[in-house]
Amino acid sequence: MSSASPATTPVVKATNLKRVYEIRRGFMAKPDLLQAVGGVSFTVHAGKTLAVVGESGCGKSTLARMVSLIETPTSGELSITGVDAVHGSDEQHLKLRKAVQLVFQNPYGSLNPRKKIGAILEAPLEINTPLKAPERAEKARAMLALVGLRPEHYDRYPHMFSGGQRQRIAIARALMLNPALVVADEPVSALDVSIQAQVLNLLADLQQSMGLAYLFISHDLGVVRHIAHDVLVMYLGHAVEQGEKNALFAQPLHPYTQALLASTPGLAGSSATKHRIVLKGELPSPLNPPKGCVFSTRCPHVTDRCRAERPVLREVAGRMVACHHAENFLAA
Ligand SMILES: Nc1ncnc2c1ncn2[C@@H]1O[C@H](COP(=O)(O)OP(=O)(O)OP(=O)(O)O)[C@@H](O)[C@H]1O
Ligand SMILES: [Mg+2]
Repeated sequence: MSSASPATTPVVKATNLKRVYEIRRGFMAKPDLLQAVGGVSFTVHAGKTLAVVGESGCGKSTLARMVSLIETPTSGELSITGVDAVHGSDEQHLKLRKAVQLVFQNPYGSLNPRKKIGAILEAPLEINTPLKAPERAEKARAMLALVGLRPEHYDRYPHMFSGGQRQRIAIARALMLNPALVVADEPVSALDVSIQAQVLNLLADLQQSMGLAYLFISHDLGVVRHIAHDVLVMYLGHAVEQGEKNALFAQPLHPYTQALLASTPGLAGSSATKHRIVLKGELPSPLNPPKGCVFSTRCPHVTDRCRAERPVLREVAGRMVACHHAENFLAA
């Protein structure tokens, strides 16, 4: 086998993942169906970050909950570290639950205020490993150092920390069981911009030293630019464009990606925004999505074909795009 081919098993392989919610309006009424995620596929390898971006309600957190095994997909396949996460045995699922860890947006809500940091970090070890108390304490202290906190922080309570420090604690807790994958849902969105960069740098360092795969959820392309290797752009539950970060930022091929880039401070004005467009109109309701292209109601390049026919995700210039007219946006 050629040494150039990535022969390793991906940490995550998702194929056509879907999640539909039933919305009940009344006891007797037939439920409405809301497709929060409408068939998304991707892989993430060890040491790599896939960033999922899109506006509020596009299905990012639903995707994160499926990949972190909190929610079962309505359909589709999900394999984590080569293990079937949808149909696998209970024993396999138990193992996977250790392999996948979550970091949430709000470090205030996710840390038990009554527990000292040491106890918070040791809890996963207590539940999942045979380690004795002194060994657990040793591991917790080592992890504190790894995430840039100090030894004396071991005996403090969450309220004694700043937002950035609390997110370091949440990251430390997520890493206690040596996961293969960290799913981070808007992990820096609640932090001051000056603190965001520090936490992003920490995540990048930890990824390098531990070989972690990240599924990184964000609505902010400025943040994504710092952390991602690959990017998946979602709109109304669908992947509209996905591919390698630099290529996608340099030449976005979907009008929605172009609009997102144009509206991101610091990124607007680059060559990426040659086809500069501004998003107009409201996001359609996911209960009543447009018939053709999901973006057709807001797209400045919309044609009759776009309104009638849903574009499939297809390869254009080395990445995947769901736009009938993607070739028009290739550089001449
Ligand atoms: N448990 C649920 N029951 C019904 N509908 C839900 C449920 N969870 C999410 N939804 C709907 O699914 C869609 C996707 O929601 P989701 O939370 O995944 O979006 P998001 O991209 O994470 O948004 P945000 O950026 O605001 O966090 C939304 O229309 C939402 O209202
Ligand atoms: Mg969300």
